[in-house]
Amino acid sequence: MNKRISFKKIGNESIGFLSFFEANKDIPFEIKRIYYTYNVPIGTKRGMHAHKELNQFLWCPYGIIKVVLDNGCEKKEFLLDSPEKGLLVGKGIWHEMYWLEENSVLCVAASDYYNEKDYIRDYDEFLKLVKEGYWKDENKF
Ligand code: TYD
Repeated sequence: MNKRISFKKIGNESIGFLSFFEANKDIPFEIKRIYYTYNVPIGTKRGMHAHKELNQFLWCPYGIIKVVLDNGCEKKEFLLDSPEKGLLVGKGIWHEMYWLEENSVLCVAASDYYNEKDYIRDYDEFLKLVKEGYWKDENKF
């Protein structure tokens, strides 16, 4: 589930470009919610949580955002530095996002409606669930 996706790109330098993705085709879930984070000061770190069931797809249409994914055993770093790139972040992945450039915008397509009960905001609780096999192999890289 956790992987980079490159968008298709239509257009040219004189008229600009258009990119798109489609639910159940380019990303492996139905989209129930879109949200975006903006006007975030450079150097800010956000996220710092995992989800019990939610799957998400992140992309940065403007700016540079570093995303660190952690499945409780292993960490991986991704750079969202182009509107042509996206990143799938599946359930059971602790994620942290670092704003590296002014006015960077993070967009997220999510598999479900907002539900605070789906969040794990305590890292030790996250590690405990990983150890108990809560996600079985579903959160492996
Ligand atoms: P959160 O997911 O913790 O954002 P970040 O990881 O970027 O800091 O959400 C921040 C706050 O916004 C939190 O109080 C929950 C609320 N929120 C909603 O009400 N609806 C949503 O769809 C999202 C994503 C967050």
